[in-house]
Amino acid sequence: MALCVARDIDALSRDTVPYGKNYPMPVFAAEILGFGLGLVANGNFELGPKASDLKGTVVVGGSKSIPEWEISGFVEYIKSGQKQGDMLLVVPEGAYAVRLGNEASIKQNIKVLKGMYYSITFMVARTCAQEERINISVTPDWGVIPIQTLYTSSGWDPIAFGFKAESETVEMLIHNPGKEEDPACGPLIDSVALRTLYPPRPTNQNLLKNGGFEEGPYVFPNSSWGVIIPPNIEDDHSPLPGWMVESLKAVKYIDSEHFSVPQGTRAVELIAGKESAIAQVARTIPGKTYVLSFSVGDASNSCEGSMIVEAFAGKDTIKVPYESKGKGGFKRAALKFVAVGPRTRIMFLSTFYTMRSDDFSSLCGPVVDDVKLISLRKP
Ligand SMILES: *[C@@H]1O[C@H](CO)[C@@H](O)[C@H](O)[C@H]1NC(C)=O
Ligand SMILES: *[C@@H]1O[C@H](CO)[C@@H](O)[C@H](O)[C@H]1NC(C)=O
Repeated sequence: MALCVARDIDALSRDTVPYGKNYPMPVFAAEILGFGLGLVANGNFELGPKASDLKGTVVVGGSKSIPEWEISGFVEYIKSGQKQGDMLLVVPEGAYAVRLGNEASIKQNIKVLKGMYYSITFMVARTCAQEERINISVTPDWGVIPIQTLYTSSGWDPIAFGFKAESETVEMLIHNPGKEEDPACGPLIDSVALRTLYPPRPTNQNLLKNGGFEEGPYVFPNSSWGVIIPPNIEDDHSPLPGWMVESLKAVKYIDSEHFSVPQGTRAVELIAGKESAIAQVARTIPGKTYVLSFSVGDASNSCEGSMIVEAFAGKDTIKVPYESKGKGGFKRAALKFVAVGPRTRIMFLSTFYTMRSDDFSSLCGPVVDDVKLISLRKP
């Protein structure tokens, strides 16, 4: 918990970010320069090694064999539909992906704007190792993401990672730190995309930043899986600006193109019961009365049953029941509280675990959106 608090304070000190939604200039610059939207160069690995640089699936032609990437260690170039033992390897986008064996890595230099925040979204699938992990890093930020839990029935999880650019060119490194008996065992990687983040600020109308979750990681336009935001314990600059993902498990970032979203175009689905929570620390005035209001609903993704969202404002809490038919819908709820300190931790979690009724294998849960914190004039 102490760690989390330290991070909260760090997050608050980042209030003074150079750019925000109200500062059109850098947005303009970013668009003109073509930075920060969509796949990185050969991010879907459709450009592959020359036939002479491959031995079966293993890339043997050296570090520059895959266009735009620098590889190291046991890297395989995988074609969709290829078999490994009894397992059919399926690729989420296009026809190719890479697999990182023990201690293998791929990296690429990307041009960014110094001082800006970015998120990387990439697709990852577990293959044969018991505990597969990926260390994604953009110096000095890095995150070790466990891939033993699958959140999507396809076997591929789109995962988000956030970083702050410390220079004009940064090195993005994806590394499998694994040491399996079979050196070829390791995760598959595909569709590496980048998005610029514009961290929003609190306003008069809302003391929380990014309360509607409109600012967040890149969502693949063709994928209906949402994006997994891993626990922030492993991620210093959140890909979901303003918010931390606490506890052990991830939350899912969903878009209105593929899911039912209470407000705007984005929301968060709490997919792992009490093991996944989102939190933000707001500046408050001790003794003042505040109202925390928010929407609780379902994503219209066959996630059915009795759900409860627990909201916390410091030590105050409210449990909001929601009966989901898995077809979309939401309700508003509010928690009135008196602040006891200059900072109040706002947090949301789901009481129960829920599985989708259409595949019985992927975790799902209630949706939280449109979170507002306002102070009441007269307590
Ligand atoms: C992850 O990778 C970064 C960059 O190579 C490194 O500094 C960091 O120590 C690694 N973390 C772990 C836990 O291996
Ligand atoms: C989305 O799918 C269409 C049709 O399969 C394809 O032409 C297009 O390139 C895909 N776009 C992306 C960003 O993957």
